[in-house]
Amino acid sequence: MWDMSAHESTPAPVAAWQRIGLRRGDITKVAADAIVNAANTTLLGGGGVDGAIHRAAGPELKEECRRLGGCPTGEARITCGYRLPARHVIHTVGPVWRGGDRGEPELLSSCYRRSLEVAAAHGLETLAFPSISTGAYGYPIRDACRIALRTTAEWLALHPEIRRVWFVCFSEADEAEYRKAYVELSGGLEPPAAPV
Ligand code: APR
Repeated sequence: MWDMSAHESTPAPVAAWQRIGLRRGDITKVAADAIVNAANTTLLGGGGVDGAIHRAAGPELKEECRRLGGCPTGEARITCGYRLPARHVIHTVGPVWRGGDRGEPELLSSCYRRSLEVAAAHGLETLAFPSISTGAYGYPIRDACRIALRTTAEWLALHPEIRRVWFVCFSEADEAEYRKAYVELSGGLEPPAAPV
């Protein structure tokens, strides 16, 4: 497991945490500047949130992804959103969980950081993440959500250009885990309820 103490750094300021919202629901319905897809290295679609995003975006998404030629684990690529309410999709490839000592924490953190960097590089201001790697890739949600939130809050503290990041949890159990981690890592703040 990722020993959080070994990664202790100064907690992100309150202002950064207040730009992070949690919500329960289907990310394909979120009208952010970009939604993030938990893809695989081919970028040619799959099940889970990847399948849902491709179904909702329509066939043009796969055509654009095909031209990208894949994406390494921990990296991120941007496409149009097509029939989605979101203008863009940022595809990132999370690590498959193999016990936690094969670089998974660093690769998962890289997914969030690279997605934020790609969004900022394209002048986007709002972004929505699913819970990367915690489905088919088997990453334990307790560790994954802490890596997701800590990486995002620390990045936002240095980058005011991204106005709002939403974590969209598909299940109540996941939302409860994210909420618990948010309160713990932010020093007791309650997550703002993300607008619909
Ligand atoms: N909206 C938001 N979250 C969703 C949705 C949705 N519509 N559908 C599924 N999820 C959640 C899952 O409940 C899980 O918490 O997304 C999270 C990530 O699960 P997966 O989609 O299985 O992604 P991951 O674990 O990263 O595995 C990626 O699965 O679908 C394939 O092509 C994909 O090979 C890749 C692998």
